[in-house]
Amino acid sequence: LSAAAAGRSTLIAGNWKMHKLAVEARSYVAELRALLEGSMQPPNEQVQVVICPPFTALHAAAEAAHGSRISIFAQNMHQEPEGAFTGEVSAAMLLEAGASGVLLGHSERRAHFGESDRALALKIPAAFSAGLRPVLCVGESEEQRSAGETERTLRHQVGEALAQVSADQLAEVVIAYEPLWAIGTGNVAEADQIQEAGSFIRALLAARSPAAAERAHVLYGGSVSERNAAEIVQLEDVDGLLVGGASLQPARFAAIVAAAG
Ligand code: PGA
Repeated sequence: LSAAAAGRSTLIAGNWKMHKLAVEARSYVAELRALLEGSMQPPNEQVQVVICPPFTALHAAAEAAHGSRISIFAQNMHQEPEGAFTGEVSAAMLLEAGASGVLLGHSERRAHFGESDRALALKIPAAFSAGLRPVLCVGESEEQRSAGETERTLRHQVGEALAQVSADQLAEVVIAYEPLWAIGTGNVAEADQIQEAGSFIRALLAARSPAAAERAHVLYGGSVSERNAAEIVQLEDVDGLLVGGASLQPARFAAIVAAAG
């Protein structure tokens, strides 16, 4: 079933990566709020708006977003509640800072910081038990796609990371399909490639629980802009977008939210 037919909301998330100081986050959120609230159209309540600032700007962003339709998610989290893990941040710390969800397994964390499927298998249940909504990022490299290994890669990533997640929690999972070759390249995946991967990911969830698969959100990410957002978000198995570069300016991100409504 399509998102609307299955009653799934649309989720538009902006991943700031390592951009913006707290003071910049505050003015960004104020500007985004004004753009979302000031549009001529009444806000489409079916569209959830999320931004993912760096750790140091979470609190400022959450304060500025208070009472608005904007939720604040973090970009990473450690699986343990506390301990000798220098430089890491726990779920409780993210909640305290004002986050209500967290990106996990972004390809940049996998490629540059050794994020493993095994750690993700612990991080996702840890996020759930703390009350944070996890967004699991998956996607194949260019080499994997040309070797015909896209489905094998997605099956492995989704299977490993969600192995310990109950069927009930599976419905609350957000999976962002982000082919590596489309991230930050301006080279957005084609509509049929996105739909194919989205429906494959939903089928993987359905093998565990058909009901959860109908409720879970599958997002697309990789060179999303205000020009391609509307086309991508109307695909049957796409319930939203994870936006990097184009989320850094409030006007561009607001235009993407509007395109999704
Ligand atoms: P991009 O990044 O939109 O700049 O391609 C997407 C992401 O990495 O989440």
